[in-house]
Amino acid sequence: MPAPLWDKRLNRTVEQIKPSGIRQFFDIVAARKDCISLGVGEPDFVSPRPVIEQAITALRDGFTHYTGNQGLLSLRTAITDYLDQEYGVRYDPASEVLVTVGVSEAVDLAFRATLNAGDAVLYPQPSYVSYEPMIALAGGTPLPCYARRENNFELLYEDIVQAYAPKAKILFLNYPANPTGSSMSRETLLKVADFAREKDLLVISDEIYGELTYESRHLPFSTLPGMKERTLLLGGFSKAFAMTGWRVGYACGPAEIIRAMTKIHQFSMLCAPTISQIAAEAALKYALEDRDRMKQAYHLRRDRIVNGFNAAGLPCYKPAGAFYVFPDIRSTGLSSMEFASQLLDAENVAVVPGTAFGATGEGFIRCSYATSMEEIEKALFRINRFVRTLR
Ligand SMILES: Cc1ncc(COP(=O)(O)O)c(C=O)c1O
Repeated sequence: MPAPLWDKRLNRTVEQIKPSGIRQFFDIVAARKDCISLGVGEPDFVSPRPVIEQAITALRDGFTHYTGNQGLLSLRTAITDYLDQEYGVRYDPASEVLVTVGVSEAVDLAFRATLNAGDAVLYPQPSYVSYEPMIALAGGTPLPCYARRENNFELLYEDIVQAYAPKAKILFLNYPANPTGSSMSRETLLKVADFAREKDLLVISDEIYGELTYESRHLPFSTLPGMKERTLLLGGFSKAFAMTGWRVGYACGPAEIIRAMTKIHQFSMLCAPTISQIAAEAALKYALEDRDRMKQAYHLRRDRIVNGFNAAGLPCYKPAGAFYVFPDIRSTGLSSMEFASQLLDAENVAVVPGTAFGATGEGFIRCSYATSMEEIEKALFRINRFVRTLR
């Protein structure tokens, strides 16, 4: 009997999903020696000491079992206290919080718990690579809202209105944003909140970079008047607490939505890793100074890298948050992909082509400054040298 043709039997939506543009690029980078990477979106810092110590102690004390599906109540309480102290928004730890396996799982659950076939989701473009596939896998229709380069890729109220269609059920936001670092102003957020009310939209707000907002104060969408009851706030530990590998995030919002998400989570995941939940609780209790120290370092690096790109003749606005810059490479005459591959070949510096985040990223590259100042200096020197060869 011939071998079965599995490619003919796969799920059609899965078949249509393209592999992540970032991962594709980094498979190439991983094979190279002495490459300076401004590519991956993860902190160069090791997780804070108290986080590691607490996790080791917990393991020694035998915390090697499952937790309840929603996550440890003590962690959920620590999360709600943290959000209250930081932003003045209060959630009920018993019914309005779900601990997830990173914000990644929270995004997946949020769409699966709320979308029915034919429902559409307004979401920003360019954007983090997982949103569009997650919408499609949940049976939804993506409705991209294009942030414009002339606004330094800040998503404006008008961009959302322009993308709106009556079948839209969800408005998905991400600020500060990956890949652009742009955030949203209070003025814009208030207009968007009125729009969400008028069109009766559920707002899902990925605020994983909220703590990494430099000059201004981060304003969670759920803190806007009347928005808590129509907003699902997604947050996590990967970025601000340098805990990518622990895989912990959370969703906070209306109890009915949290209950629906928990239903899926209990069957697909059961619970977030116990040891990581304990580590996350330690982060909120004992690592706020570490968080602030890392943020200070990113702030300095941001200013340095922005100046460096501008000095190299690649216009670069100063992003409000996250740890990415999104310089404009159009003056080189190269496409984003050409720029990234030629830079890698010529100077062994890895950056991500803007097109990995959607077609509107053409003409831009994403560079992460979650790497040491020394590496940033070296990378800027090499990028400068590369750009000079093109002129
Ligand atoms: C905007 C955004 N949301 C979510 C994630 C995923 O985070 P987590 O590690 O919590 O799954 C990332 C990771 O890069 C991100 O940039």
